[in-house]
Amino acid sequence: MTVEQLSTAFLGRPRGPRMLGIWRDYGARVFAGTLLLLLSLVGFEAGPKDDFSLVRPLVTMEQLLWVSGKQIGSVDTFRIPLITATPRGTLLAFSEARKMSASDMGAKFIALRRSIDQGNTWSPTEFIIDDGETPDGLNLGAVVNDAETGVVFLFYSLCAHKFGCKVASTMLVWSKDDGLSWSKPQNLSLDIGTEMFAPGPGSGIQKQREPRKGRLIVCGHGTLERDGVFCLLSDDHGASWRYGSGVTGIPYGQPKQERDFSPDECQPYELPDGSVVINTRNQNNYHCHCRMILRSYDACDTLRPRDVTFDQELVDPVVAAGALATNSGIVFFSNPAHQEFRVNLTLRWSFSNGTSWQKERLQLWPGPSGYSSLAVLEGNMSGEGQAPQLYVLYEKGRYQCTESISLARVSIYGIF
Ligand SMILES: *[C@@H]1O[C@H](CO)[C@@H](O)[C@H](O)[C@H]1NC(C)=O
Ligand SMILES: *[C@@H]1O[C@H](CO)[C@@H](O)[C@H](O)[C@H]1NC(C)=O
Ligand SMILES: *[C@@H]1O[C@H](CO)[C@@H](O)[C@H](O)[C@H]1NC(C)=O
Ligand SMILES: *[C@@H]1O[C@H](CO)[C@@H](O)[C@H](O)[C@H]1NC(C)=O
Repeated sequence: MTVEQLSTAFLGRPRGPRMLGIWRDYGARVFAGTLLLLLSLVGFEAGPKDDFSLVRPLVTMEQLLWVSGKQIGSVDTFRIPLITATPRGTLLAFSEARKMSASDMGAKFIALRRSIDQGNTWSPTEFIIDDGETPDGLNLGAVVNDAETGVVFLFYSLCAHKFGCKVASTMLVWSKDDGLSWSKPQNLSLDIGTEMFAPGPGSGIQKQREPRKGRLIVCGHGTLERDGVFCLLSDDHGASWRYGSGVTGIPYGQPKQERDFSPDECQPYELPDGSVVINTRNQNNYHCHCRMILRSYDACDTLRPRDVTFDQELVDPVVAAGALATNSGIVFFSNPAHQEFRVNLTLRWSFSNGTSWQKERLQLWPGPSGYSSLAVLEGNMSGEGQAPQLYVLYEKGRYQCTESISLARVSIYGIF
């Protein structure tokens, strides 16, 4: 929603020419003041919980975190954005820094930038993992926080394409200090086996409600040797991990054709009833050019074909998308909203657990745009606390979506 639409909603039709650029920003600030006043008049400080009528997503800041083209650390291409907010409120942004080319294979670093001021400023890029010169290097990945211990886990794979290497590995690193320092990589394949598992890309979740409150869940997809979507689960704060049973592709273990059933890259979130939704890339456009939705009622111990649906409203060009549920019960979704092409990065939101989507939407970028990842700082509407902010980290470009990775901060209630 633009500032104009927002002011239309609250203050009647806007007059004069369209506000652009800096004017728009200025308008937004003036308007934010007015909005705060209006909100205080309607008793907004009481807390936004469940008051969906006050939701007015508004972009309040956008900046490029990474630019491709051998400008940052001689890295050819940055891709695969992941963003998370730690329990202490630090934002961590990760990406694949593809050293020599834009290819999914090849050698890479994992790049990290941190923000401890709600995304206003970011630490310089740090390369926390380096796979050397391997022909089929690392791939991100999923990040998940344990709110009880404060530990953040980052998963990635090695040799996912079996290009110049024979065995795929699932790797894990963790940080106990909000991403300042990281453990040595742990080879999880020693425990869970060497079948290829591509986590995310995006965020894992920690169950907030029963069943299995506290469980860590990281979902991903496999390749032909075991295709489909399945999740890694930990009930001991990340000390050990095991697979739940997944939803497999059809025909299983065989190359797929257009319109075959092939669930792929995926993003879980938890609903208020304790079930888990996994918003999934529909690799071969089975049934529709739209998102595939999996749902688990047992904290991802099992995923069943009977719990697979399709969300016709979430048109999708076959891509990794962002999805997240806030504590206040809003579900957000981001993707390049187009049947065929990776353009038109759009944020949608739902007040009905994702069963329907609000008509309003926020177009973040009309042009080339690809993978996206979401995080939220729920803040605190009372007193001097921060207003709830959503963060959208996404692939963005003028000609190709691999040109940069951009961070948009979205004020959920339209206030600064
Ligand atoms: C991880 O462990 C598996 C199983 O033992 C092994 O085959 C693979 O080579 C290991 N990967 C790495 C990167 O050490
Ligand atoms: C962009 O996405 C919005 C929201 O889904 C849609 O209404 C609009 O038609 C899209 N625009 C293009 C050019 O695809
Ligand atoms: C969302 O799910 C919760 C828990 O099942 C339920 O209480 C609520 O009514 C649902 N919201 C809508 C709009 O269906
Ligand atoms: C919200 O902000 C107020 C005032 O700054 C503070 O006293 C309160 O502890 C905060 N609540 C939470 C849940 O952070």
